[in-house]
Amino acid sequence: MARDNSYWESGHYECMDEGRNLPSTIIAYQMTEERMLQQHIPLQTESILEIGSGTGRILHQLESRAKRIVGIDHAKEMLRSARRRVSDKVELIEAEAQSIPLPDFSFDYVLCLFNTFGNFEGDQNDYIQEMRRLLKTDGEIHLSVYSERARDSQVQLYHNIGLHPQAYSDRVEVKEGFTSRRFGENQLRKFFTDNNLEVRVHKLTPISYYAIGKKLGPS
Ligand SMILES: C[S@@+](CC[C@H](N)C(=O)[O-])C[C@H]1O[C@@H](n2cnc3c(N)ncnc32)[C@H](O)[C@@H]1O
Repeated sequence: MARDNSYWESGHYECMDEGRNLPSTIIAYQMTEERMLQQHIPLQTESILEIGSGTGRILHQLESRAKRIVGIDHAKEMLRSARRRVSDKVELIEAEAQSIPLPDFSFDYVLCLFNTFGNFEGDQNDYIQEMRRLLKTDGEIHLSVYSERARDSQVQLYHNIGLHPQAYSDRVEVKEGFTSRRFGENQLRKFFTDNNLEVRVHKLTPISYYAIGKKLGPS
């Protein structure tokens, strides 16, 4: 079945880049996430992939650190927006996060940030398996998500940028056409351990977690 990515194709999400009307908890989440990346991704890295790269916020910050840097997104409009922000060195590919048209063992780092993981439909394990497939041995997945305590921040963010959110116990559904889930620490840890990845989970801010998963074996 074709996925509905009409919201992500609308261009509306670009208003996030202006930074106006963002709740302070959301600004703190993004800033702390960016600091974690600067601390953990070496200055001279061979290869980085970002899944759901959006308007290129992260690609732009990391492109000078990597020999090869790739962003994938399922929305053409997001890829166009990222293209305006990053240099020609950055490869941008239109792809579904569940089936990325790149070979196994391609990257040292696979990133999935700012709760993009919580936007994915279906079984989240499928996406972790795809990230793992793309990693080299000893490579790392860096994944950040909303925590159990993010509900009010999610609702406030979507209201503030002119969307229509409806809150449920584990997610917010936005009428304009996407879902934003949130995760418990143990639930997040289990996605990694169930898929043969070593994991460390950091409490990033009160509303977010940052997990680093490592692929230990070659298989
Ligand atoms: C919340 S935005 C985050 C953008 C960027 N990672 C950042 O942190 O600024 C989520 C992005 O993931 C993309 N996305 C959502 N579901 C996807 C899927 N199944 N496959 C590929 N991209 C997806 C959306 O188009 C959007 O650009």
